[in-house]
Formats: sequence, structure tokens, C-alpha cells
Amino acid sequence: MERSEEIDQIKTLLARLDSGTNVDAGGVRYNPTSAYTDPDLAAAERRQFFDHHPQIVGLSGDLPEPGSFMTFDELGTPILLTRSVSGEFKAFVNVCRHRGVVVETAERGTKRRFACPFHNWTYDGDGTLVGLPKTDHFGELDRSELGLVQLPAVENLGLLWVHPRPDGVIDPDELLGAELAADLADWNLGELRWLGGDRYEVECNWKLAMDTFGETYHFPVLHADTLYGAFYGNVQCYDTFGRNHRMLLCRREIDEVRNLPPDDWDLCTATLPVYWLFPNVQFIPSGNVVYVVRAYPDPADPGRHTSRISFYLRPHVSVDSDAAHFAEEVARGFGGVIRDEDYVMSASQQRSANSGALGHVIFGRNEPALHHFHNTYRAALGQELLPLHPTG
Ligand code: FES
Ligand SMILES: [Fe+2]
Repeated sequence: MERSEEIDQIKTLLARLDSGTNVDAGGVRYNPTSAYTDPDLAAAERRQFFDHHPQIVGLSGDLPEPGSFMTFDELGTPILLTRSVSGEFKAFVNVCRHRGVVVETAERGTKRRFACPFHNWTYDGDGTLVGLPKTDHFGELDRSELGLVQLPAVENLGLLWVHPRPDGVIDPDELLGAELAADLADWNLGELRWLGGDRYEVECNWKLAMDTFGETYHFPVLHADTLYGAFYGNVQCYDTFGRNHRMLLCRREIDEVRNLPPDDWDLCTATLPVYWLFPNVQFIPSGNVVYVVRAYPDPADPGRHTSRISFYLRPHVSVDSDAAHFAEEVARGFGGVIRDEDYVMSASQQRSANSGALGHVIFGRNEPALHHFHNTYRAALGQELLPLHPTG
């Protein structure tokens, strides 16, 4: 974000705080609860937003050095992500070309060779088949044709993108747009180091997981004993960038920031930025840590999903320092709030949606991100948009 815009955004937050106002969507929208339960809709979303759409699978720091790898199974197809000897980010279908066994089962690590556990066919970090035991018994084949199936992979601005289809196209410029790309570039995502992560299986639709990141109206209530101590609720800045968005939550430290000259205002002291990267990523850069939350639908049940949360250390903090350990503790605490407070509400919403108790739920004027999430999904699927109903 340009420095002048950072100052303007902090001024806007202060003005809203002082006047008791908030960002205003201009009305309310009614979202049908079938959006969270309809199996046909869930299948269409999986096809269009996941199976046939570029996916952010991590940040450059997930693969810190040549030989680093990571596996990823949330999309159905097992995927192996590597950093090759030459340092290039690559993605493969993690399936042996002999008889289809998953080759690498570890979640992450460093390896020069990936050996299939069935008959020991072996691949290198470029996916090349480099070992085929007992060719005199098995038969000699053209190994150059039998590498791991490669998937499109792009490393851009420190984001790792993969397309789950071998013939898929990834165009980060088009996915993010120039304005958001410039904003994200300022976070130096390529310099972040992976700190840890967690995986939550939750009995709620993946969009309910996204919804919980879309407003701070709930902070004084749901997070009364946790996040509300550090944040003012129900006050934020909000901007959209095509299919994506950026919220700025209001930290209570803004009260100290306001006493400084604007030249000394720090965005991460006064606010917590929360970016939504279509379709399923929340990117949250904090002081010492950056959080990435990704939600994946369950293929068999619209009422279930898996969330992956990853924590990354910002470059000004030394690895293995006290500050890094404290940052990880804070990050795990934040993950715990999402799991034990937000996602408990999401699962409750799902139970009521499954029961058919309500035909629709309501997105308030102070919840513009929810308007944007759902109308973006609907537009992408060719559905009619949810109309805005002005209120007093
Ligand atoms: S299935 Fe992998 S070596 Fe046989
Ligand atoms: Fe929350």
C-alpha cells in the first residue's frame, strides 16, 4: 500500500472510531441457506473454483531451498510441490507412473529423490524418473516419457500458485489485478519463513469458514474474552479489488498511534489487514507473523470442509529467537480462536442450514465483505446476484 494511502486509511479508521460509524454496504442482502447445503451448487463450486481454477497452495517460504518439498491433498488429486535443484517451483501429480501409488507421503521436508513405496520407482525434484529397478525383469521403457505428471506452477510475489489441471492456465496478473498485486508486493511475501500450521476439519460449508473472516461485528460478543481485548469491534475499512478484497481491522493500539505524527504511523500497529484472495484464501499480515487460511470443500458433503492455517515469520524476526517462539505461540493462539470460537459458530450455522429452519440469513450494512463474497461466487457461477435492500 502506498504510504499516503496507509495514512488515509488510518485517518478513516480514527474518524469512524470517534464518530461511532462503520463502513456501510448501503443496505442488507438476504442469502439463501441453500448456499451452504445444496449438493448441486457444491459440485459446481468444486468444479469451477477448485478443480478448474488456479490455487494458492502456500508462500515461497514453504519451499525455502533447493530440494524442499511439500505434499498437498485437499483438492482430491494428490499433489507434490518441489523446489528443484535449480531453485524453480514445480508441481506434480504425486502418483507413481508404474501402478499409481502415491509416491511421497510426508507432509514436507527436503529430499533429492522421491521413491515410490511399492516397487521403488524413483523420481527427482524435476519429476524425472531416475530409478526403475530390475529393468531386465520389468522391461526397458522410455523413461523420459514416465516422469511425474507435471502441473502448471507459478511463483509470483512470493505466492505459490498451482493449477490442478495439467492444461490449466495461471495468470496472477489477471487473478489479482495491478492494484492488489502492487499492494501485496509491499509485504515482501517472498521473504517470509514458514513457522508452522494446523489443519481443522469442521462440520460446516467452506463458505461459512470464509464468512467468519468477513466482519468484526461479532468481536465484542463471540471474542469478548479473546480478540476483543486487542481490537475494537464493528469498525473497519473495506476495499474490493475485482474478485478479491481487503479489510483493515482496528487494533486498540490505534489509540497510541493517534498521538504520534502521521509520518510515524504504522499500519500493522494501528490495524490488522485481512485480504480475501478468491476463492478460498484469507491472507492476514500481522506485526511479526503472517497468517494464511485456506478452506477446502468436502467432496462428499456440502456441510463439511477442511481449513488449513499456516503461519509465517516476517523477515525482521530471527528464526529460533525468543521473538520467533513468542510469535509462534501467538499464532497458535490465534488459530485456536478461529477453531474454538469462529468455527464453532460456523458449525452451528451449518446445523441450522441443514435443518431448513431458515430460508435465508441476513448480511448487514456493516458486513460488506459478506455481500461481496457471495455475489462474487454467484456471479462466477452465473447465478442471479443477491439484491441490495436499503434500510433505515
Ligand atoms: S507403483 Fe510405484 S513403483 Fe510400483
Ligand atoms: Fe472471529
